[in-house]
Amino acid sequence: MDSEFLEQAFIQPPQADGPQAGRARMLMPAPVGIAGTGIDNPEPDLLARMDADHVFMMGDNPALPPMPARPTLLDFLKHRMQGITIRHLLTSATKALEDGRDETIVMACLLHDISNGCLIRSDHGYWGAQMLAPYVSEEVAWAVQYHQCLRYVADEAEGYAYPESYNRFFGPDYVPPDYIRKDAEFARTHRWYGTARAVTLYDIYFFDDSPTPDPDIFADIIGRNFRNPEEGLGFDGSPVAHMWRTAIWPNNLL
Ligand SMILES: [Fe+2]
Ligand SMILES: [Fe+2]
Repeated sequence: MDSEFLEQAFIQPPQADGPQAGRARMLMPAPVGIAGTGIDNPEPDLLARMDADHVFMMGDNPALPPMPARPTLLDFLKHRMQGITIRHLLTSATKALEDGRDETIVMACLLHDISNGCLIRSDHGYWGAQMLAPYVSEEVAWAVQYHQCLRYVADEAEGYAYPESYNRFFGPDYVPPDYIRKDAEFARTHRWYGTARAVTLYDIYFFDDSPTPDPDIFADIIGRNFRNPEEGLGFDGSPVAHMWRTAIWPNNLL
């Protein structure tokens, strides 16, 4: 790998304080982030650089906004989500709120793409539902999971057409895999279908210049519908705490 690119992308100069102070910290990208791309895996080059002055990053990365010791959902929405996704989530939830939809739907809209905003893209509905499950109602988590498959299935009675954006994203001939079609079929007769379907109706991409809504406008709804653990998300010993910790420290080697 080009040594200048390696330095720029994967080696952070030493910090005066903080964890691993005084040593250059190397960032090993996650396999799912680079697998199949044209980016060479820098693993061998980085391993070759390891010495007393070069270690692998563990802990806070100063290139990311600091997180409080006991982070809440709002901290993740404000400090760990990628720009287009947080704008998409806040705008979807705002539209649902303006339409007078109930708080279950507003919450599902607000959180439906949390996984591709801060953790992982592939199968984002399933990952998102899992990371949210201990903290939201079963119905919100269900809607987050099933919005993914229902996005591919038109429902004229509900006013939902196959998204034009998907024709652009995937090409007009794209056919979703069997598991997606099976899960969508299952969801259609489920008692919470309307909730997941509502998420797909507000699942619109807003690339215009309208300002991004302030996450704090959802503070009260979050307070009523999300159980922020006292220890902070990531530190409550829940079965999904590691997912939140990974979003806090996405660059840890291990
Ligand atoms: Fe989605
Ligand atoms: Fe979405």
